[in-house]
Amino acid sequence: MIKIALMGHGVVGSGVAEILEEKKQSLAQKAGDALYCAKILDLREFPDTPYADRFTKDFNDIAEDESIQIVVEAMGGLHPAYEFVKACLEKGKNVVTSNKELVAEKGAELLAVAKAKNVNFFFEASVGGGIPIIRPMHLCLAANRIDEIYGILNGTTNFILTKMIQEQMTFDAALSLAQQLGYAEKNPAADIDGIDACRKICILASLAFGRHVYPQEVYTEGISNITLEDVAYARNGGYVVKLIGQAKRLPDGKSQVMVSPALVPVENQLSRVDDVFNSVLIKGDETGEVMFYGKGAGKLPTASAVVADVVHIAKSPSTSQSLIWEDSAADTVADASAYRNAFYYRLQGPISKEQIEALWGTVTVLSRQGQPTGEVAFLTGVMPESQAESAEKKLAGKAELLGKIRLLG
Ligand code: HSE
Repeated sequence: MIKIALMGHGVVGSGVAEILEEKKQSLAQKAGDALYCAKILDLREFPDTPYADRFTKDFNDIAEDESIQIVVEAMGGLHPAYEFVKACLEKGKNVVTSNKELVAEKGAELLAVAKAKNVNFFFEASVGGGIPIIRPMHLCLAANRIDEIYGILNGTTNFILTKMIQEQMTFDAALSLAQQLGYAEKNPAADIDGIDACRKICILASLAFGRHVYPQEVYTEGISNITLEDVAYARNGGYVVKLIGQAKRLPDGKSQVMVSPALVPVENQLSRVDDVFNSVLIKGDETGEVMFYGKGAGKLPTASAVVADVVHIAKSPSTSQSLIWEDSAADTVADASAYRNAFYYRLQGPISKEQIEALWGTVTVLSRQGQPTGEVAFLTGVMPESQAESAEKKLAGKAELLGKIRLLG
Protein backbone atom coordinates (compact mmCIF):
# COMPACT_ATOMS: atom_id res chain seq x y z
CA MET A 1 0.00 0.00 0.00
CA ILE A 2 1.26 3.50 -0.85
CA LYS A 3 0.36 6.11 1.74
CA ILE A 4 -0.53 9.58 0.58
CA ALA A 5 -1.08 12.78 2.54
CA LEU A 6 -3.16 15.65 1.26
CA MET A 7 -2.43 19.25 2.23
CA GLY A 8 -5.54 21.38 1.66
CA HIS A 9 -9.12 20.14 1.44
CA GLY A 10 -10.50 22.96 -0.70
CA VAL A 11 -11.93 22.68 -4.21
CA VAL A 12 -9.06 20.66 -5.72
CA GLY A 13 -8.00 18.80 -2.55
CA SER A 14 -11.50 17.53 -1.82
CA GLY A 15 -11.74 16.38 -5.45
CA VAL A 16 -8.51 14.41 -5.04
CA ALA A 17 -9.78 12.78 -1.83
CA GLU A 18 -13.05 11.86 -3.54
CA ILE A 19 -11.37 10.33 -6.61
CA LEU A 20 -8.89 8.35 -4.46
CA GLU A 21 -11.81 6.98 -2.42
CA GLU A 22 -14.32 6.32 -5.20
CA LYS A 23 -11.88 4.87 -7.72
CA LYS A 24 -9.64 2.98 -5.31
CA GLN A 25 -9.95 -0.33 -7.15
CA SER A 26 -9.21 0.89 -10.65
CA LEU A 27 -6.44 3.17 -9.36
CA ALA A 28 -4.80 0.28 -7.50
CA GLN A 29 -4.78 -1.67 -10.74
CA LYS A 30 -3.32 1.24 -12.70
CA ALA A 31 -0.76 2.14 -10.03
CA GLY A 32 0.22 -1.46 -9.29
CA ASP A 33 -0.46 -0.93 -5.58
CA ALA A 34 -3.28 0.38 -3.37
CA LEU A 35 -3.28 4.17 -2.91
CA TYR A 36 -4.41 5.19 0.56
CA CYS A 37 -5.00 8.78 1.63
CA ALA A 38 -3.74 8.49 5.22
CA LYS A 39 -3.77 12.13 6.37
CA ILE A 40 -5.39 15.37 5.34
CA LEU A 41 -4.06 18.72 6.54
CA ASP A 42 -6.62 21.51 6.85
CA LEU A 43 -7.43 24.03 9.55
CA ARG A 44 -11.17 23.59 8.96
CA GLU A 45 -13.40 20.71 10.20
CA PHE A 46 -15.04 18.30 7.74
CA PRO A 47 -17.12 16.01 10.00
CA ASP A 48 -19.34 14.72 7.17
CA THR A 49 -16.64 13.28 4.91
CA PRO A 50 -15.98 9.49 4.89
CA TYR A 51 -12.38 10.26 5.95
CA ALA A 52 -13.22 12.67 8.81
CA ASP A 53 -10.94 10.69 11.16
CA ARG A 54 -7.84 11.37 9.03
CA PHE A 55 -7.78 15.18 9.33
CA THR A 56 -4.99 16.98 11.13
CA LYS A 57 -4.20 20.63 11.71
CA ASP A 58 -0.50 19.95 12.34
CA PHE A 59 1.88 19.79 9.35
CA ASN A 60 4.38 17.79 11.43
CA ASP A 61 1.92 14.87 11.51
CA ILE A 62 2.67 14.55 7.78
CA ALA A 63 6.31 15.66 7.68
CA GLU A 64 7.38 13.34 10.51
CA ASP A 65 5.41 10.30 9.32
CA GLU A 66 7.97 8.17 7.48
CA SER A 67 5.30 5.86 6.09
CA ILE A 68 3.92 8.68 3.88
CA GLN A 69 5.60 8.51 0.48
CA ILE A 70 3.57 10.99 -1.56
CA VAL A 71 2.30 14.39 -0.44
CA VAL A 72 -0.30 16.25 -2.49
CA GLU A 73 -0.20 20.02 -2.04
CA ALA A 74 -3.52 21.66 -2.93
CA MET A 75 -3.46 24.55 -0.48
CA GLY A 76 -2.80 27.27 -3.03
CA GLY A 77 -0.85 30.46 -2.37
CA LEU A 78 2.88 30.73 -1.83
CA HIS A 79 3.08 30.57 1.95
CA PRO A 80 3.11 28.22 3.75
CA ALA A 81 2.82 25.94 0.68
CA TYR A 82 6.45 26.64 -0.31
CA GLU A 83 7.87 25.90 3.15
CA PHE A 84 5.74 22.74 3.53
CA VAL A 85 6.58 21.40 0.06
CA LYS A 86 10.29 22.08 0.47
CA ALA A 87 10.30 20.37 3.88
CA CYS A 88 8.53 17.30 2.44
CA LEU A 89 11.00 17.04 -0.46
CA GLU A 90 13.93 17.42 1.92
CA LYS A 91 12.53 14.57 3.97
CA GLY A 92 12.58 12.38 0.86
CA LYS A 93 8.86 12.48 0.09
CA ASN A 94 7.48 12.82 -3.43
CA VAL A 95 5.31 15.90 -3.91
CA VAL A 96 2.48 16.54 -6.35
CA THR A 97 1.04 20.05 -6.56
CA SER A 98 -1.76 21.85 -8.38
CA ASN A 99 -0.36 25.20 -7.21
CA LYS A 100 0.74 27.27 -10.21
CA GLU A 101 1.88 30.19 -8.06
CA LEU A 102 4.26 27.85 -6.25
CA VAL A 103 5.69 26.34 -9.45
CA ALA A 104 5.91 29.70 -11.27
CA GLU A 105 7.76 31.34 -8.36
CA LYS A 106 9.78 28.46 -6.93
CA GLY A 107 9.85 25.74 -9.60
CA ALA A 108 13.59 25.82 -10.36
CA GLU A 109 14.50 25.63 -6.68
CA LEU A 110 12.01 22.87 -5.78
CA LEU A 111 12.96 20.77 -8.82
CA ALA A 112 16.60 21.01 -7.75
CA VAL A 113 15.72 19.88 -4.20
CA ALA A 114 13.71 16.97 -5.61
CA LYS A 115 16.62 15.95 -7.84
CA ALA A 116 19.08 16.11 -4.94
CA LYS A 117 16.81 13.92 -2.84
CA ASN A 118 16.01 11.54 -5.70
CA VAL A 119 12.25 12.10 -5.43
CA ASN A 120 9.61 13.53 -7.77
CA PHE A 121 8.12 16.99 -7.84
CA PHE A 122 5.19 16.84 -10.26
CA PHE A 123 2.75 19.60 -11.23
CA GLU A 124 0.59 18.42 -14.12
CA ALA A 125 -2.51 20.10 -12.60
CA SER A 126 -0.82 23.49 -12.40
CA VAL A 127 -1.46 24.25 -16.09
CA GLY A 128 -4.61 23.55 -18.07
CA GLY A 129 -6.60 21.88 -15.26
CA GLY A 130 -7.58 18.46 -16.60
CA ILE A 131 -5.61 18.75 -19.85
CA PRO A 132 -2.45 16.63 -19.91
CA ILE A 133 0.20 19.14 -20.97
CA ILE A 134 3.31 18.98 -18.76
CA ARG A 135 4.03 15.29 -19.27
CA PRO A 136 3.24 15.35 -23.03
CA MET A 137 5.57 18.34 -23.44
CA HIS A 138 8.29 16.76 -21.37
CA LEU A 139 8.07 13.19 -22.66
CA CYS A 140 5.94 12.82 -25.80
CA LEU A 141 7.49 15.86 -27.51
CA ALA A 142 11.02 15.05 -26.29
CA ALA A 143 12.33 14.81 -29.87
CA ASN A 144 11.44 18.44 -30.52
CA ARG A 145 12.95 21.83 -29.91
CA ILE A 146 9.89 23.77 -28.81
CA ASP A 147 9.87 27.15 -30.53
CA GLU A 148 6.51 28.58 -29.54
CA ILE A 149 3.61 28.03 -27.15
CA TYR A 150 0.40 30.03 -27.19
CA GLY A 151 -3.12 29.56 -26.04
CA ILE A 152 -6.02 30.17 -23.71
CA LEU A 153 -4.79 29.34 -20.23
CA ASN A 154 -7.46 30.71 -17.91
CA GLY A 155 -10.94 29.21 -17.71
CA THR A 156 -12.57 32.03 -15.75
CA THR A 157 -11.62 34.79 -18.18
CA ASN A 158 -12.51 32.59 -21.16
CA PHE A 159 -15.91 31.96 -19.57
CA ILE A 160 -16.43 35.72 -19.00
CA LEU A 161 -15.37 36.66 -22.54
CA THR A 162 -17.57 33.91 -24.00
CA LYS A 163 -20.59 35.30 -22.12
CA MET A 164 -19.75 38.82 -23.34
CA ILE A 165 -19.35 37.64 -26.95
CA GLN A 166 -22.26 35.22 -27.20
CA GLU A 167 -24.83 36.68 -24.79
CA GLN A 168 -23.76 40.34 -24.58
CA MET A 169 -23.56 39.84 -20.80
CA THR A 170 -21.70 42.60 -18.97
CA PHE A 171 -18.27 41.89 -17.54
CA ASP A 172 -19.52 42.17 -13.92
CA ALA A 173 -22.49 39.82 -14.45
CA ALA A 174 -20.29 37.23 -16.16
CA LEU A 175 -17.66 37.43 -13.39
CA SER A 176 -20.19 36.85 -10.65
CA LEU A 177 -21.60 33.84 -12.56
CA ALA A 178 -18.05 32.41 -12.88
CA GLN A 179 -17.59 32.83 -9.13
CA GLN A 180 -20.92 31.09 -8.40
CA LEU A 181 -19.81 28.17 -10.57
CA GLY A 182 -16.53 27.86 -8.62
CA TYR A 183 -14.20 28.69 -11.53
CA ALA A 184 -12.65 31.88 -10.22
CA GLU A 185 -9.68 31.95 -7.88
CA LYS A 186 -10.28 33.05 -4.27
CA ASN A 187 -9.14 36.49 -5.31
CA PRO A 188 -10.70 37.07 -8.76
CA ALA A 189 -7.97 39.60 -9.59
CA ALA A 190 -5.62 36.67 -10.20
CA ASP A 191 -7.88 35.58 -13.07
CA ILE A 192 -9.13 38.94 -14.33
CA ASP A 193 -5.75 40.69 -14.32
CA GLY A 194 -4.05 37.84 -16.17
CA ILE A 195 -1.88 36.79 -13.21
CA ASP A 196 -3.08 33.17 -13.25
CA ALA A 197 -2.48 32.89 -17.02
CA CYS A 198 0.94 34.52 -16.51
CA ARG A 199 1.93 31.88 -13.94
CA LYS A 200 0.87 29.14 -16.35
CA ILE A 201 2.78 30.51 -19.35
CA CYS A 202 5.82 30.93 -17.07
CA ILE A 203 5.66 27.22 -16.20
CA LEU A 204 5.27 26.16 -19.85
CA ALA A 205 8.03 28.54 -21.03
CA SER A 206 10.40 27.32 -18.30
CA LEU A 207 9.80 23.72 -19.30
CA ALA A 208 10.07 24.44 -23.04
CA PHE A 209 13.16 26.67 -22.94
CA GLY A 210 14.96 25.02 -19.99
CA ARG A 211 15.34 28.18 -17.95
CA HIS A 212 13.02 29.58 -15.29
CA VAL A 213 10.80 32.42 -16.45
CA TYR A 214 9.53 34.40 -13.46
CA PRO A 215 6.11 36.12 -13.52
CA GLN A 216 7.63 39.51 -12.77
CA GLU A 217 9.61 39.34 -16.06
CA VAL A 218 6.44 38.89 -18.14
CA TYR A 219 4.32 41.71 -19.57
CA THR A 220 0.82 40.87 -18.28
CA GLU A 221 -2.48 42.54 -19.09
CA GLY A 222 -5.93 41.30 -18.01
CA ILE A 223 -9.43 41.63 -19.42
CA SER A 224 -11.03 44.22 -17.15
CA ASN A 225 -10.77 46.96 -19.81
CA ILE A 226 -12.54 44.92 -22.49
CA THR A 227 -15.99 46.33 -23.22
CA LEU A 228 -19.04 45.14 -25.15
CA GLU A 229 -18.21 47.88 -27.68
CA ASP A 230 -14.78 46.31 -28.36
CA VAL A 231 -16.42 42.89 -28.67
CA ALA A 232 -18.88 44.30 -31.25
CA TYR A 233 -16.17 45.96 -33.40
CA ALA A 234 -14.11 42.77 -33.23
CA ARG A 235 -17.07 40.66 -34.33
CA ASN A 236 -17.73 42.89 -37.36
CA GLY A 237 -14.07 42.65 -38.31
CA GLY A 238 -14.13 38.82 -38.13
CA TYR A 239 -12.48 38.40 -34.71
CA VAL A 240 -13.26 37.31 -31.16
CA VAL A 241 -11.48 38.60 -28.06
CA LYS A 242 -9.54 35.99 -26.03
CA LEU A 243 -6.98 36.23 -23.24
CA ILE A 244 -3.82 34.74 -24.78
CA GLY A 245 -0.62 33.60 -23.11
CA GLN A 246 2.33 33.22 -25.46
CA ALA A 247 5.99 32.30 -25.28
CA LYS A 248 8.32 32.38 -28.27
CA ARG A 249 11.97 31.44 -28.66
CA LEU A 250 13.79 34.41 -30.24
CA PRO A 251 16.81 34.04 -32.57
CA ASP A 252 19.14 35.70 -30.00
CA GLY A 253 18.39 33.00 -27.41
CA LYS A 254 16.06 35.18 -25.33
CA SER A 255 12.34 34.57 -25.20
CA GLN A 256 9.26 36.66 -25.81
CA VAL A 257 6.69 35.89 -23.09
CA MET A 258 3.48 37.81 -22.55
CA VAL A 259 -0.17 37.61 -21.49
CA SER A 260 -2.73 39.96 -22.96
CA PRO A 261 -6.17 40.04 -24.54
CA ALA A 262 -5.94 39.45 -28.30
CA LEU A 263 -8.21 39.61 -31.32
CA VAL A 264 -8.31 36.06 -32.67
CA PRO A 265 -9.53 35.61 -36.28
CA VAL A 266 -12.71 33.50 -36.44
CA GLU A 267 -10.95 31.04 -38.74
CA ASN A 268 -8.31 30.30 -36.05
CA GLN A 269 -9.17 27.21 -33.98
CA LEU A 270 -8.65 29.14 -30.72
CA SER A 271 -11.66 31.32 -31.61
CA ARG A 272 -13.87 28.29 -31.01
CA VAL A 273 -12.46 27.47 -27.57
CA ASP A 274 -15.27 28.71 -25.36
CA ASP A 275 -16.58 28.77 -21.78
CA VAL A 276 -14.22 27.33 -19.19
CA PHE A 277 -12.22 25.38 -21.77
CA ASN A 278 -8.51 25.99 -22.27
CA SER A 279 -6.41 25.22 -25.32
CA VAL A 280 -2.67 25.31 -25.84
CA LEU A 281 -0.80 25.11 -29.15
CA ILE A 282 2.79 23.97 -29.09
CA LYS A 283 5.09 24.32 -32.08
CA GLY A 284 7.81 21.69 -32.17
CA ASP A 285 10.51 21.70 -34.85
CA GLU A 286 9.70 18.09 -35.74
CA THR A 287 5.93 17.90 -35.13
CA GLY A 288 4.81 21.37 -36.23
CA GLU A 289 1.75 22.55 -34.28
CA VAL A 290 0.23 20.23 -31.68
CA MET A 291 -3.01 21.32 -30.01
CA PHE A 292 -4.25 20.47 -26.50
CA TYR A 293 -7.85 21.15 -25.50
CA GLY A 294 -9.98 20.47 -22.44
CA LYS A 295 -11.45 21.79 -19.21
CA GLY A 296 -8.93 24.19 -17.70
CA ALA A 297 -10.65 24.72 -14.36
CA GLY A 298 -13.00 23.01 -11.96
CA LYS A 299 -12.72 20.55 -9.10
CA LEU A 300 -12.71 17.16 -10.80
CA PRO A 301 -10.79 17.98 -14.02
CA THR A 302 -7.98 19.47 -11.91
CA ALA A 303 -8.10 16.64 -9.36
CA SER A 304 -7.86 14.18 -12.27
CA ALA A 305 -4.47 15.66 -13.23
CA VAL A 306 -3.26 15.48 -9.60
CA VAL A 307 -4.28 11.83 -9.30
CA ALA A 308 -2.51 11.04 -12.59
CA ASP A 309 0.74 12.38 -11.10
CA VAL A 310 0.20 10.26 -7.97
CA VAL A 311 -0.34 7.15 -10.11
CA HIS A 312 2.78 7.95 -12.15
CA ILE A 313 4.89 8.16 -8.97
CA ALA A 314 3.38 4.95 -7.60
CA LYS A 315 4.19 3.11 -10.84
CA SER A 316 7.69 4.46 -11.28
CA PRO A 317 9.30 6.27 -8.37
CA SER A 318 12.40 8.42 -9.00
CA THR A 319 11.44 9.32 -12.54
CA SER A 320 11.66 13.09 -12.22
CA GLN A 321 15.37 13.46 -12.79
CA SER A 322 14.93 14.81 -16.30
CA LEU A 323 11.98 17.08 -15.40
CA ILE A 324 14.07 20.04 -14.43
CA TRP A 325 15.08 23.50 -15.61
CA GLU A 326 17.84 25.94 -14.74
CA ASP A 327 17.27 29.05 -12.71
CA SER A 328 16.81 32.30 -14.60
CA ALA A 329 19.54 34.53 -15.92
CA ALA A 330 18.83 38.26 -15.96
CA ASP A 331 18.34 38.19 -19.74
CA THR A 332 16.03 35.17 -20.09
CA VAL A 333 13.07 37.28 -21.25
CA ALA A 334 13.45 40.00 -23.90
CA ASP A 335 12.34 43.59 -23.30
CA ALA A 336 8.60 43.82 -24.05
CA SER A 337 8.88 47.20 -25.77
CA ALA A 338 10.59 45.46 -28.70
CA TYR A 339 7.83 42.82 -29.21
CA ARG A 340 6.13 43.22 -32.57
CA ASN A 341 2.34 43.21 -32.81
CA ALA A 342 -0.60 44.55 -34.79
CA PHE A 343 -3.19 46.47 -32.76
CA TYR A 344 -6.89 47.27 -32.53
CA TYR A 345 -7.66 50.79 -31.30
CA ARG A 346 -10.90 52.51 -30.31
CA LEU A 347 -10.77 56.31 -30.09
CA GLN A 348 -13.25 59.09 -29.35
CA GLY A 349 -12.73 62.51 -30.88
CA PRO A 350 -12.57 64.58 -34.06
CA ILE A 351 -9.72 62.67 -35.67
CA SER A 352 -9.62 61.86 -39.39
CA LYS A 353 -8.41 58.65 -41.03
CA GLU A 354 -5.52 60.67 -42.52
CA GLN A 355 -4.47 61.84 -39.06
CA ILE A 356 -4.71 58.25 -37.73
CA GLU A 357 -2.58 56.94 -40.60
CA ALA A 358 -0.02 59.68 -40.04
CA LEU A 359 0.46 58.20 -36.56
CA TRP A 360 0.11 54.40 -37.06
CA GLY A 361 0.58 53.85 -40.81
CA THR A 362 -2.08 52.18 -42.96
CA VAL A 363 -5.13 51.07 -40.95
CA THR A 364 -8.35 49.13 -41.56
CA VAL A 365 -11.38 50.96 -40.15
CA LEU A 366 -14.05 48.87 -38.33
CA SER A 367 -17.71 49.66 -37.69
CA ARG A 368 -20.46 48.51 -35.31
CA GLN A 369 -24.20 48.83 -34.93
CA GLY A 370 -25.14 51.91 -32.91
CA GLN A 371 -21.71 53.47 -33.37
CA PRO A 372 -21.86 56.95 -31.83
CA THR A 373 -20.59 60.01 -33.68
CA GLY A 374 -16.93 60.66 -33.01
CA GLU A 375 -16.09 57.03 -32.13
CA VAL A 376 -13.62 55.33 -34.45
CA ALA A 377 -12.10 51.83 -34.31
CA PHE A 378 -9.36 50.44 -36.54
CA LEU A 379 -6.66 47.77 -36.96
CA THR A 380 -3.01 48.66 -37.55
CA GLY A 381 -0.25 46.71 -39.26
CA VAL A 382 2.53 44.97 -37.32
CA MET A 383 4.92 47.32 -35.47
CA PRO A 384 7.06 47.33 -32.33
CA GLU A 385 5.16 47.97 -29.09
CA SER A 386 7.24 51.12 -28.56
CA GLN A 387 6.11 52.57 -31.93
CA ALA A 388 2.42 51.98 -31.09
CA GLU A 389 2.90 53.68 -27.74
CA SER A 390 4.64 56.72 -29.18
CA ALA A 391 1.71 57.15 -31.62
CA GLU A 392 -0.69 57.06 -28.63
CA LYS A 393 1.25 59.86 -26.94
CA LYS A 394 0.68 62.09 -29.97
CA LEU A 395 -3.11 61.76 -29.66
CA ALA A 396 -3.38 64.54 -27.06
CA GLY A 397 -5.84 67.20 -28.21
CA LYS A 398 -7.06 65.11 -31.15
CA ALA A 399 -8.80 62.10 -29.55
CA GLU A 400 -9.20 60.08 -26.37
CA LEU A 401 -7.96 56.47 -26.24
CA LEU A 402 -10.92 54.23 -25.31
CA GLY A 403 -9.56 50.79 -26.13
CA LYS A 404 -6.44 48.97 -27.31
CA ILE A 405 -6.10 45.22 -27.96
CA ARG A 406 -3.33 43.28 -29.70
CA LEU A 407 -4.04 41.00 -32.65
CA LEU A 408 -2.98 37.37 -32.30
CA GLY A 409 0.39 37.28 -34.07
N1 HSE B 1 -8.99 30.11 -11.85
C1 HSE B 1 -8.31 29.22 -12.74
C2 HSE B 1 -8.95 29.32 -14.10
C3 HSE B 1 -8.42 27.83 -12.19
O1 HSE B 1 -10.01 29.94 -14.19
O2 HSE B 1 -8.42 28.85 -15.09
C4 HSE B 1 -7.53 26.86 -12.85
O3 HSE B 1 -6.20 27.22 -12.78
